[in-house]
Amino acid sequence: MKKTSTIFLLLLCMGCAQTASTSQEPAASESAAQTTMPATSVPARSSDPEMDRFITDLMAKMSLDEKIGQLNLVSVGFDVTGPIVSENVDENIKRGNVGGVFNTYTPIAVRKLQELAVNSSRHKIPLIFGYDVIHGHRTIFPIPLGLSASWDLQAIERSARIAAEEATADGLNWVFSPMVDIARDARWGRIAEGAGEDPFLGSRIAEAMVQGYQLDNMKDPNTVMACVKHFALYGAAEAGRDYGTVDMSMQRMFNEFMPPYKAALDAGAGSVMTSFNEINGVPATGNRWLMTELLREQWGFDGFVVTDYTAINEMIAHGVGNESEVAALALKAGVDMDMVGELFLKELKANVERGTVTEEEINTACRRVLEAKYKLGLFEDPFRYINEERGKTAMLTKEHREAAREIARKSMVLLKNDKNTLPLKSSGSIALIGPLARNQRDLIGNWSGAGDWKQAVSVEQGIRNVMGNKVKINYAKGANLTDDAQMIRRLNAHGGELELDKRSSEAMIKEAVQAARNSDVIVAVVGESQGMSGEAASRADIGLPGQQLVLLKALKQTGKPLVIVLMNGRPLTLPWEHENANAILETWFAGTEAGNAIADVLFGSYNPSGKLTVTFPRHVGQVPIFYNAKNTGRPFNGEELNKYTSRYMDVPNEPLYPFGHGLSYTSFTYSKPKLSKASMTAGESLEVSVEVRNTGNYDGEEVVQLYVQDVVGSITRPVKELKGFQKIMLKKGESRTVTFKLTADDLKFYNNQMEYVYEPGEFKVYVGTSSSELQEAGFRLN
Ligand code: NOJ
Repeated sequence: MKKTSTIFLLLLCMGCAQTASTSQEPAASESAAQTTMPATSVPARSSDPEMDRFITDLMAKMSLDEKIGQLNLVSVGFDVTGPIVSENVDENIKRGNVGGVFNTYTPIAVRKLQELAVNSSRHKIPLIFGYDVIHGHRTIFPIPLGLSASWDLQAIERSARIAAEEATADGLNWVFSPMVDIARDARWGRIAEGAGEDPFLGSRIAEAMVQGYQLDNMKDPNTVMACVKHFALYGAAEAGRDYGTVDMSMQRMFNEFMPPYKAALDAGAGSVMTSFNEINGVPATGNRWLMTELLREQWGFDGFVVTDYTAINEMIAHGVGNESEVAALALKAGVDMDMVGELFLKELKANVERGTVTEEEINTACRRVLEAKYKLGLFEDPFRYINEERGKTAMLTKEHREAAREIARKSMVLLKNDKNTLPLKSSGSIALIGPLARNQRDLIGNWSGAGDWKQAVSVEQGIRNVMGNKVKINYAKGANLTDDAQMIRRLNAHGGELELDKRSSEAMIKEAVQAARNSDVIVAVVGESQGMSGEAASRADIGLPGQQLVLLKALKQTGKPLVIVLMNGRPLTLPWEHENANAILETWFAGTEAGNAIADVLFGSYNPSGKLTVTFPRHVGQVPIFYNAKNTGRPFNGEELNKYTSRYMDVPNEPLYPFGHGLSYTSFTYSKPKLSKASMTAGESLEVSVEVRNTGNYDGEEVVQLYVQDVVGSITRPVKELKGFQKIMLKKGESRTVTFKLTADDLKFYNNQMEYVYEPGEFKVYVGTSSSELQEAGFRLN
């Protein structure tokens, strides 16, 4: 057994979850009958005495009703992002019953509501304005899963920065992003919205996004407050069904799922959103261990917590109480703001009167909401984010579109490229086939509320923009995205805009085959409709929907080279496609500039450099499948007839495309990794160097990946874990030595006692181009 060193004790245990559910005991009743607390008894906790004084003075004048009003977040206006909508909004704002608004944007609309608040409510407290700005605001970038595949932190930060510039020009000051839920189950539609399966990469991306949104000054009228979501573990829903139960060991939770939330908070994120799921028996939204003991007491978070949409009300269905009880449960757990459900508004005062909630608890939540407004500078100027001029000039600028094109190119992953099928020749003819080839709607993904899909560049248009008349395009749709009538109804009910070709599938395929016969090469643009991933969009079958595979098989029969361009929000199962296509380019939903960016990659003016941040299974039955798994006591050793090993009888254990996979038009070779020493002691560092050479015919970028395995541990450790990466540009023929530094801190993990430790012993180091193409070295930690 290794010796434990440097210990950060986490005061947590499975029992704490029970503390959460029993903590509804009536609290001290002294303050139960009071409606206003004296100013001195409102606890101020921040390091900004001026803010504390200001808020203390303000709260001293507020009634209990007005304080509860600050805890109410209403949805007004253009978008419906949940099952119910807020009512009587104007009246409630005037009465001081509203702390914030979301789903309203544009300077005109925001000004109207802000004027109501500051001109007609008793204390003139400004509203905070939030919105789901997830991967761009008006200029839409690739979906977050695509952004993460760029492994380019500067590019990701830039996308968040541009999103913040446009969002603030639309009157907003708060964005419900970054979504940092680790996801390993491709059935879960919201895998599209996060940075994939890895906690290390996810953490770096979380930091980059928070920085891009907030910079170092939330008062700047160009910055927004970030909201880290969904706290916590939302991506671990059982069976990949959205909103599903989460039940996991504390080790897994802290080693594999919690790091990105913590990283976003350490980067200064101002707010946190609860998740819909339960965690080990207690809904997150009513989980005091999660939101107070862990988030605030251990992690030191001093911002505010908002629920997800009606998540307090949903605790009734979870079976933990009635309306009054769940409102109390959420507040006591550490929730500060109730999104849309209005149970705080309806139930908290009665809870105070009954003694089941204290006014002190309401004060604490109210103070946190007011602090957020203070940090945003709204008390100095409630209209600081409302600038009609910027509203006209800051959106979809040339510069933003160029950035969107550049970032979209970086997000694309070349999954396969047999015999250099890609890049395509800049002459001849292309059969441009597929339901997504002319499509614009799907390109901006499903979390692009303020995005205008009519601004999106289709693949066909992109090819024309990039190649002009140099290539001839023979277009045929070939198939609808899906033929499932129920699915179509559901997608269209939520903005799907699915245009269905009424012809028979046979007729469409026949036309496509003809176009293929008349062309030099086939480019088949296939995948999902945007609404097939995202919220409430879990799928049990994650292959290409509808007749698209049938179409591809018919195209293959023509004998023409087959290039598949994929658009999708999750890993798909693509065994036939992998076997039979000559090249496959994963483009996700690449945003406003998708078509231009795709054409840049197809014709080689950009050499693809993206790498997968999620594992692509061969078969949905392998899910959840992820690279940083544990070994078993009976690992499969490749012996076909050795029955008693950990394997499937019908499919291999290996994924189709592993985490970190992504090809380039050029090739890179790696030297064996060299370590600066064979052993290190805590306090020292060790360098891992590798020489990477561009041995192909193009300049290109490579993501050099570093993984570590802790060979023997006091608990079992993953077969490998990403610990570093560098994206480098190498000219044709160029080579560079890439160096990573490791310290004992990089080797820490939570052990069975929930101590954060490194354990002396043997470690393996792997460096390479993907999680499954690595070269090994080793060292000892003493
Ligand atoms: C529900 C989603 O889960 C969350 O991500 C989003 O921010 C809210 N709705 C608000 O639209």
